[in-house]
Amino acid sequence: MTEITMSRALELFETGYRRLIDEQPKFYYSQGKSFKSHCCLVACCAEIIASRLPHIDGRKAYIYGLLHDYGKMIKDADNEMFFHGLTGYDEFMKIGYPDIAKICLTHSFTNKDFKLSDYSYPHRDLQKTRRLLSKMEYDDYDRLIQLCDLLILDFDFKTLRERIEFIKLKYRVSSLIIKRKYREALHLKSYFDKLCGCDIYSLLGVKS
Ligand SMILES: [Fe+2]
Repeated sequence: MTEITMSRALELFETGYRRLIDEQPKFYYSQGKSFKSHCCLVACCAEIIASRLPHIDGRKAYIYGLLHDYGKMIKDADNEMFFHGLTGYDEFMKIGYPDIAKICLTHSFTNKDFKLSDYSYPHRDLQKTRRLLSKMEYDDYDRLIQLCDLLILDFDFKTLRERIEFIKLKYRVSSLIIKRKYREALHLKSYFDKLCGCDIYSLLGVKS
């Protein structure tokens, strides 16, 4: 497996972002800046948490955070009828970075055995995702990016409750699913609280 360099990762991100500006102007004008900030903050968040964990490479964590939503820059992000994780996965497999491909796919699924009805993406995408996930072992990089993705909203670090509340309103997810997602998110946080030996909110300066 080829290990990606930082300059290549930044180049991919910048090229993808320029393509988003050119090809998805509606998305760019409505959410482009907060999307870019989200990716950069997930990267920073992952690197900060990694600095407390000797078994996690901070550079790799930063790159994974930066590129986890890469799929959104490829397809029409205004059209929510596609699953960006799968798009990112396919793209990174194609260009030879299977570890980043895995992050693109796993970052949305704290629970691998999700029900198709839990999501509004096409069933064909979800079935393929479930099939791929069933062959993957989650490691601490997957869990780290899942957590960081849930700690960023727009231009700042937020509590899990605030982020999950946003998901509920944006994607119109049922209360039952939201409760489960929140439980899974808290579980992830306490997993990293223990690993880091501190409260992740204090580490990031999040007011809870
Ligand atoms: Fe994200």
